[in-house]
Amino acid sequence: MPSGRDKIRFLHTPTPLHRLDRISADLGVEVYMKRDDLTDFGTGGNKLRKLEYFLKDALDQNATMILTVGGAQTNHGRLTAAVCAKYGLKSAIVAVDPYPGEISANLLLDGIMDCHVYLVQKLDGQDEGQLLQEAVDRVTKEWEDRGERVYYIPMGGSNELGALGYYDCALELAEQVREMGLAGDATGPNGTDPGAASPNRTNPGAAGPRVLITVGSMGTYIGLAAAFANEELPMRLTGIGVLPYRDIRRSVAKYYARVQAAYGLKKDLGPEDFDVTSDYDYGAYNNPVKDVREAIYYMGRMEGIILDPCYTGKTFNAYLRMLREGKIAQGETVIMLHTGGLPGIYTAHHRVEMEKELMEHIHIL
Ligand SMILES: Cc1ncc(COP(=O)(O)O)c(C=O)c1O
Repeated sequence: MPSGRDKIRFLHTPTPLHRLDRISADLGVEVYMKRDDLTDFGTGGNKLRKLEYFLKDALDQNATMILTVGGAQTNHGRLTAAVCAKYGLKSAIVAVDPYPGEISANLLLDGIMDCHVYLVQKLDGQDEGQLLQEAVDRVTKEWEDRGERVYYIPMGGSNELGALGYYDCALELAEQVREMGLAGDATGPNGTDPGAASPNRTNPGAAGPRVLITVGSMGTYIGLAAAFANEELPMRLTGIGVLPYRDIRRSVAKYYARVQAAYGLKKDLGPEDFDVTSDYDYGAYNNPVKDVREAIYYMGRMEGIILDPCYTGKTFNAYLRMLREGKIAQGETVIMLHTGGLPGIYTAHHRVEMEKELMEHIHIL
């Protein structure tokens, strides 16, 4: 367990882990879900576990305000706003994004929680990173001039400190897996090795279920991967990239090296040790995808659980495709970690597509 960093515990954990009974029966599989979408504040989501660490660090530095960055519809920003509201801090989000034409979804929730959102329009030829940095500097200075002490959290809360939130979650999940008797279930139907199709496992020797996790800014995946490997947990990890990375394995390996150095973790891991794929990102971040919407409808209709179109819908769709492609054996026990993101279904570009498809459910009498 990485030492030296502490957190402020505001979450009621463990989050539930349960079997998806109707989907398991329908597909002839064993699939479970860990419900980090049910975490306590701001309608829930994975970023809250990271924020337990950031809040402690911010308060230790006597911050009166937290500023973070992301897209206009950042879930991480919305959850940062929620934590700030609970602890009486001011909050702000800076995004290089045009105004979307309406205050919906996360933007609506941000305003409700008194978070200020600063949008910067990128013009042709401008460098996004530079624009973002300039805007962050400007907004920070404006608030500091008004007497605030501003604490900065990077995109998605994905740095060394943020990753610890999911190191903890891995330990919590391992305990649940043991209690529920799911550990040691590494054998597929007819004694096949379910991992054989995919040799690059984060925890190569692990018996036990496969955990499926969405990979965005990577902090969630890296926290889990670090714990799976260093604590030798009875599980293996598969990451589903939801935005295009030039070389996703190299990127996660670099991030892991930073976390390893920060906390003196024992296990050395190279790109080949990470089971993470870009095969199901559909070429862009947060794009409307029919397959993903079909996966969302399937989950909603079979289990009454709502996935989002940007992150968890893509991950569950990847699971369905991997089953069809034989990359995950049917008899293999899989746990999908639901990371939240619900407000995404209310953003205009996803909503209009769903409205067309769901119109047949409206009956005017
Ligand atoms: C709902 C949801 N799921 C998954 C992720 C991915 O987490 P990470 O950025 O730590 O990879 C995010 C990130 O914003 C998210 O909002």
